[in-house]
Amino acid sequence: MNVNPRPADAQAIEEAARRLAGGELVAFPTETVYGLGADAASARAIAEVYRLKGRPADHPLIVHVLDAAQAAWWAHWPARAQRLADAFWPGPLTLVLVRRETAPAFACGGQVSIGLRAPSHPVARALLAAFAARGGHGVAAPSANRFGRVSPTRAVHVIDDLGVEAPLVLDGGACEVGVESTIVDLSRERPVLLRPGGITIAQLEAVLGEPVPGRDARAPRASGTLEAHYAPVTPVELVDGDGIDRRIAGLHARGERVALWVRSGAGARADARLSMPADPTAAAHALYDALRTLDRSGCTRILVERVPGDASWHAVADRLRRSAAGPGGVAEA
Ligand code: TXA
Ligand code: MG
Repeated sequence: MNVNPRPADAQAIEEAARRLAGGELVAFPTETVYGLGADAASARAIAEVYRLKGRPADHPLIVHVLDAAQAAWWAHWPARAQRLADAFWPGPLTLVLVRRETAPAFACGGQVSIGLRAPSHPVARALLAAFAARGGHGVAAPSANRFGRVSPTRAVHVIDDLGVEAPLVLDGGACEVGVESTIVDLSRERPVLLRPGGITIAQLEAVLGEPVPGRDARAPRASGTLEAHYAPVTPVELVDGDGIDRRIAGLHARGERVALWVRSGAGARADARLSMPADPTAAAHALYDALRTLDRSGCTRILVERVPGDASWHAVADRLRRSAAGPGGVAEA
């Protein structure tokens, strides 16, 4: 049967593993977002991921593995990696480590380091296990969206984005976390946070027993760290709760149609309006689906109520700031 997306039953997972082993791409659910998967040891399959995503060739991919043992095939495995893997794998944490000389350079954009993650989603794990049974060492998978766009958190988002070019998409329902994994660089003297996500800095510091500062100028390039990334087509603007009604009136006066994602009761006059959950974990889960829905609402502008500045909102605040920076974004100071 030619159904896409396809319910991720045992037969579909086996078929997906067979395709990966044959050098084809497969999209699959993880607990963070859907990934566009390829055999990480196949130069041809990896090249196809870059082509399909429209991603610059020097932006490295994350290689998904079952566990620390598989990770150690790809990278040198320091004590810090073991501690973090013990605490957070399988789960939404990517470790950037020094690549083994035997691991292919094309899996990591030619860098000396490689990003590795063991996802916890049962479908992702079953796929990795079935692929390992066919001799696979890992599945390279960026988020299954076109470069610079909003990551998919439902199977249908992958089809919406990739259209007729979409490979087999395993449908595992809505992603629980909803934003991409936390990325920690362990390839240098000190750990550095490259991308905030479901695992917080405080959780990392508690396990490592040392500070985990944000990225600096020497950190490796990561596409998720570009300013204009994760953006809908409609311009996104972040607004304080008490400024929403005034802003909507101003935009309406100019003939604009306004879509709104809002935590407070403001914005009753918006042309499309979705409520943002009050809890940061629930807001992260809803984030990309809300942006996609508002992007399709026929409005000329998306307003999002600014979120609190505390650590629990770090990942959501980061993605919203980037959404507002492009492609047509109204970047605010
Ligand atoms: O949650 C996630 O991480 C999702 C799911 C599918 O696992 N994947 C994901 O992949 O977000 P992608 O390709 O959209 O983002 C990968 C990020 C990029 O910012 C990339 O540059 C960074 O990881 N990265 C990968 N390897 C790296 C390396 N060796 N050094 C620095 N950054 C690296
Ligand atoms: Mg991405």
